[in-house]
Formats: sequence, structure tokens, C-alpha cells
Amino acid sequence: MSILSKKQKSFSKIPTHIAFIVDGNGRWAKKYGMPRNYGHKCGVDAIKKIIDSCSKFGIKVASFFIFSTENWARPKDEVDYIFQLAKDMFEKTLSEYKEKNYRIHVIGEVSKLDSEMQEIISKAVTETQDNDGMIVNFAINYGGRDEIVRACNSLIKSGKEEVTKQDFEQALYTCKLPDPDIVIRTSGEIRISNFMLYQMAYSELFFPKKYWPDFKEKDLYKVLIEYQGRDRRYGKLA
Ligand code: IPE
Ligand code: MG
Repeated sequence: MSILSKKQKSFSKIPTHIAFIVDGNGRWAKKYGMPRNYGHKCGVDAIKKIIDSCSKFGIKVASFFIFSTENWARPKDEVDYIFQLAKDMFEKTLSEYKEKNYRIHVIGEVSKLDSEMQEIISKAVTETQDNDGMIVNFAINYGGRDEIVRACNSLIKSGKEEVTKQDFEQALYTCKLPDPDIVIRTSGEIRISNFMLYQMAYSELFFPKKYWPDFKEKDLYKVLIEYQGRDRRYGKLA
């Protein structure tokens, strides 16, 4: 048992859902004189490791913002490389995730992705859907505003004239997921960049300075320690 899993017992508050805005792959690569794509490759390795750390800490849902609706504006070779990495990640880790009892989930406008990517995602989701362990949720071609507008349109199409919060939440990509308790954005940028806009209403936000490829289990542990001291009041009095 590692020191971290021993310490885990002292947490009185374990968040159910942690969402990561993985940021800083490009700057991390630049710092080491490497091309941006190398940063993305190491970023994927960091995601794989943090998934296991989340599971170790007893997290039920871990979300990763890996490609936004705005990221299409990047150079084509970078976009292509990111999707190649995503395809490899889904394919290579599927058997491992099945074994580890993780459930793969994807949010975002998947129907606009190339057919190979769609098939790979669908296979990973289907083949892990009966697992009952941690949910690993990837946001791919995801935008918070798009999600909200899409939910409105689907509710209008369903013929509703008035909706409740529950109706609205059921129309979001995240309908099967709890809201994130914690949102972590690495790299020192202090903004949420169109991620889970509706769902983040009461999330505790953390902005560690490290670039994503350097974000390790001990950094997640530090966030969890700080989370213990956060008083979540939801507008009520303490
Ligand atoms: C995050 O790292 C990865 C994706 C959004 C795909 P960046 O690529 O945004 O890295 P920086 O911000 O340029 O350093
Ligand atoms: Mg960035």
C-alpha cells in the first residue's frame, strides 16, 4: 500500500466527481524544447495515470476536457495528432479499463467526429457499460454553450412549453452524471473556457500552476487536502 492510500483514510470528504481541464501541454513541451505534439502525447500519459489515482482515492466520476468545440481552430496537423492520440488511447486502454471495472463515457458532439473515431468511442462505451466501477468521462468536441443551446432545441422539439431544472438537466450531455464537486484546471490559467457551464454552478475550483503533463498523483492529493477545508454552503449559512 502506498503512503497515499494510507493517508486517504483520513479524508472525511471524498468528492464524487472531479472534472479536469487539462491545460498546458503545449507550454510544457516548449519548456523542454520539444514540439507541441510531444506535449499532447505526454498529456495523454498523464491522463492515464490520474485516472488510476482518482480511482485509488475513491472518486466515482473523473472527467477530462480533451477537445473543445473551439480547438478545431488549431493547425490541422495538431488537431489530427490529438485525434490520433485519442483513438490510440481508447483502443489501447480498453482491455485495461474493462479489467479495472471502469466505465467509459463521452460527452460532446460526437456525431461530428470522423466515423473511425465514432466507432472507437462507441466500442469503448458499449464494452464497458456493464462495469460498475469509476466512470471515466471524456469531453470531446464539447462546448458548454453548445450543450445548453442543444438542450434547449431538443426540449423545444419534444414539444415542451415550459421546463423544470430536472427536464433541462436531462437534456444535457451530462444527464447521467452528477455535477462536478471539484474542477481542476492546470497551467495557471484562471478561467473555465466553456467547460460544463451549467454543471459547475457549485463546483469548488482549483487552478494549480503546473502544466498538465507534470500534474501527478501528489498534486491531486494536495487538491483533495485543500478540499477538506472548503466549506460548501450552497448559499446557505454555515
Ligand atoms: C491542453 O493543452 C490540450 C488540449 C486542449 C487539447 P494545450 O494544447 O492547450 O497547451 P497550451 O495551453 O498551448 O500550453
Ligand atoms: Mg491551452
